[in-house]
Amino acid sequence: MSMTDIRSIISQMTLEEKAALCTGATAWTTTPLERLGVPELFVSDGPHGIRRVPDENSMAIGALPATCFPTASCTAASWDRDLLRELGEALAEEAIALDVDVLLGPGVNMKRTPACGRNFEYFSEDPYLAGELAASFINGVQGRGVGTSLKHYATNNQEYQRMTISSEVDERTLREIYLPAFETAVKKAQPWTVMCCYNRVNGIYGSEHHKLLTEILKDEWGLEGFVVSDWGAVHDRVAALQGGLDLEMPGPRGRRVQAVVEAVRQGKLAEDLLDEGVRRILRIVFKAAEAPKGAAFDAAGHHALARKIAGEGLVLLKNDGVLPLKNVRRIAVIGHAAVEAHFQGGGSSHINATQVDVPLEALKKRAGDAQIAFCEGYPADDSSQPALIEEAVAAARAADVALLYIALPTYKESEGYDRADLDLTAQQTALIQAVTAAQPKSVVVLHNGSAVTMSAWLGGAAAVLEAWMMGQAGGSAIADVLFGDVNPSGKLAETFPLRLADTPAYINYPGENGKVRYGEGLFIGYRYYDVREQPVLFPFGHGLSYTTFGYAAPRVSSETFRDVDGLTVSVDVTNTGPVAGKEVVQIYVRDHKASLVRPVKELKGFAKVALEPGETKTVTVTLDFRAFAFYHPAYKRWVAEDGEFDILIGASAADIRCAKTVTLKSTLELPCLLNRESTTREWLDDPRGKPVFKPLASR
Ligand code: BGC
Repeated sequence: MSMTDIRSIISQMTLEEKAALCTGATAWTTTPLERLGVPELFVSDGPHGIRRVPDENSMAIGALPATCFPTASCTAASWDRDLLRELGEALAEEAIALDVDVLLGPGVNMKRTPACGRNFEYFSEDPYLAGELAASFINGVQGRGVGTSLKHYATNNQEYQRMTISSEVDERTLREIYLPAFETAVKKAQPWTVMCCYNRVNGIYGSEHHKLLTEILKDEWGLEGFVVSDWGAVHDRVAALQGGLDLEMPGPRGRRVQAVVEAVRQGKLAEDLLDEGVRRILRIVFKAAEAPKGAAFDAAGHHALARKIAGEGLVLLKNDGVLPLKNVRRIAVIGHAAVEAHFQGGGSSHINATQVDVPLEALKKRAGDAQIAFCEGYPADDSSQPALIEEAVAAARAADVALLYIALPTYKESEGYDRADLDLTAQQTALIQAVTAAQPKSVVVLHNGSAVTMSAWLGGAAAVLEAWMMGQAGGSAIADVLFGDVNPSGKLAETFPLRLADTPAYINYPGENGKVRYGEGLFIGYRYYDVREQPVLFPFGHGLSYTTFGYAAPRVSSETFRDVDGLTVSVDVTNTGPVAGKEVVQIYVRDHKASLVRPVKELKGFAKVALEPGETKTVTVTLDFRAFAFYHPAYKRWVAEDGEFDILIGASAADIRCAKTVTLKSTLELPCLLNRESTTREWLDDPRGKPVFKPLASR
């Protein structure tokens, strides 16, 4: 529908109809307007499957069956843009089949602390990685005619007091850490909707935040779609409209609609502002109406895709050579998660899976005639059960290898609450310690949405496979990796710290008196561990393979370049081992010297490359202006300063394989900030200040 047609519809709408359109009709639909041919829009969670509730007035009950794909922690660990697009396309097919117009996802909040109970729904601690993956996901979904909702905008980085707490964060940190994933997704993929957060940002609710919603999201980044509230995030409907919140969900909320009508009548709310919200909503409603509806989706095909995606996202954290499994005759399978797959997280993203691959069954299928003994190992609750440990130890002793399937229970980690610690349960820790002591060939398979600590048992484990919440086909994906049918290629999209007390937000988290201070500023994740030179359990970007990769011949398009031109970086990567595999090449940028403090290095490019044994491929990545820039609060803009930068090419944040140094020439003409409060150093450092200052000083 053209903009002229939409404007014509708006001109025929009454004030009451406009106000009604800006608030939901039910838990999942917008208000239709038959008189003018405006249909309803149906939205559903999200993000890693379609949670289509048949009764639109019900928030949660009995979602229709859909494929539960791996959650974002797992898909992010694939570092694979094409895979995220493929995932998005499959999700769109299911949305169409289930009559859903907009999928409520992806979530791109930063993993500020591993304690956040909802980290499983988020991609990374790094804004570049999260933004790139989200853009591919959105392009995948929307390319098939289904909308997305980029969430939760912004600084919803903890579940503790998530409905009210104020994230106290300075502008530079917002711009460089907490906003760029949203910015990239908006600029590269134009999500049909963006969902505001529940929390306050510097004292103002996300649902009313004019600077975030109107000035930055719409005016600066150019969001064309509409802003929707998180469910129940609106406190004052009129203030929210004034801030830039177009659609309030869920509905119905007659009193809110009435408040908007009255505010316009009393001159407290400009009708133009309401019209703008209506225009944005109508545009998407009609766009959705044009999209195909109703075909069935290929459940078996999508189950297979879920298995493939999980296989790409599993991360082999440690391996002393026990994996892949070869010639094993007797296997002890230990742990409740082997029989009850822990494949998704708790809360609004919970999918009614079409089928579930039970890890033990998948293993039996693959293990041929090997003998498999199963022991529960730990109970579903928090109790201590020494007898289960004794039984597991006996089984491990009698086997060639022990496989421990350990899932962090939902009572520890879920949407709605945070973790008090990063440990497994006491029973699980004791179980792993006892089994690894009895059987040197013990492999620990972990299920969790974000980092867990391992120091209490890691030394004894022969191998550790991070299997995340790996989606409904993850049970098979684990068997694929354990037996080497799939060579693991996942890499951590978040640092695994040694202890909770080592984490960047530790001192300020979770906040008090209604505020959480982002005191660590820019320094979250590897940015913090880098500057503190602090050891970690497993660094950002880490992940092992059954083969090895060599990096050679790093090169750049030009040793000296202008900021506006950017740079192309290439490196030759060779599979130097015995089997085919995939490597994630990571490009970090380090600024030698800047006028403001900067992280030691920052991820600014990556590529995943598949290589046969002995094969070499050239990986090429482009770095644009933003790869070198930082946000300067005094100039209120992104700035890349003259000088030298290192281009660090690595296999993880802690495994840099080669580097190039380049020189940037800035083309920016910045206003002069020198004044009587500037220091001598500042006067002398500024080419405009020096000639003025020198004669004055020598007088
Ligand atoms: C969650 C959103 C979700 C919405 C609808 C909220 O509580 O924060 O992510 O999309 O509910 O279920």
